Amino acid sequence: MARPVKEGWITAKTADINDLYERSVQCPESEVSLIYQAWDELRERKPVVIREDFCGTSAVAREWVKQNDINRVVGVDLDPSVLAWANNKIASELTENQISRVDLIEHDVFTVDLPLVDCTLAMNFSYYGFKKRDQLLRYFESVKRGLKDDGIFLLDAYGGSDSFLEMDEERDMDGFTYIWDQHLVNPITGDVVNYIHFEFPDGSKIKKAFTYEWRFWTLPEIKDVLLDAGFSSVVVYWEGTDEDGDGNGVWSVDSRGEACAGWVAYMAALK
Ligand SMILES: C[S@@+](CC[C@H](N)C(=O)[O-])C[C@H]1O[C@@H](n2cnc3c(N)ncnc32)[C@H](O)[C@@H]1O
Repeated sequence: MARPVKEGWITAKTADINDLYERSVQCPESEVSLIYQAWDELRERKPVVIREDFCGTSAVAREWVKQNDINRVVGVDLDPSVLAWANNKIASELTENQISRVDLIEHDVFTVDLPLVDCTLAMNFSYYGFKKRDQLLRYFESVKRGLKDDGIFLLDAYGGSDSFLEMDEERDMDGFTYIWDQHLVNPITGDVVNYIHFEFPDGSKIKKAFTYEWRFWTLPEIKDVLLDAGFSSVVVYWEGTDEDGDGNGVWSVDSRGEACAGWVAYMAALK
């Protein structure tokens, strides 16, 4: 039921879904920190030029150029509306020098052809949109071709027993509620349909603000496809836990993991 709107409240009418998305699911500082950690541990130099595939709102790209005066980034996404939002954000949030080191390109990551980079990122499971093994293989091969000789491809994956269930998970955010809706899980094909919904203090809602029609890939499958694509090795970064068993934001290379209800991991594939 609708409630009177108080000053400062976000409602379904006033909400900016890209802003809510960033606040709910992204933490660009930790992703940039993971890039530096992986390069520190796996290579003997620091990365400078990166490519953010499926860049969406460009959160990581913006954070990358804020790190220093030399970092450069190219973001690739095929949705012109999110890129327009990202370009506005870049113009309002970054200095001229930082802006000169970010390029956003409207293109399918599958076929994009760009100058070689040190590191390519594919985050928030976006490559799960490639549902056929052959498609995934061709995407990984093209990422490998786009990397310098010592390049690293960093990608994330999710899993755990809950990922096989049709279920909702709500999280209270500052001024709104974020809902992750695992709406459909097909155990035969591996197809999943996930939605993000938002709800507001006045009772208004944005249902299906984002829709993801994915194949639910498992870590060993992804690793096998990366190796088939020609990457020389693949390591998994697994998150440590605090005394309550919750993720503590400390990532380390691991080969065991933990069979818990829900996890997110990163993979580093070395050219
Ligand atoms: C789940 S969002 C991820 C956004 C961001 N990378 C993050 O970490 O939150 C997926 C993004 O990938 C884009 N996308 C999906 N398929 C694509 C493709 N084949 N080529 C380029 N962009 C694609 C969508 O437009 C959307 O902005």
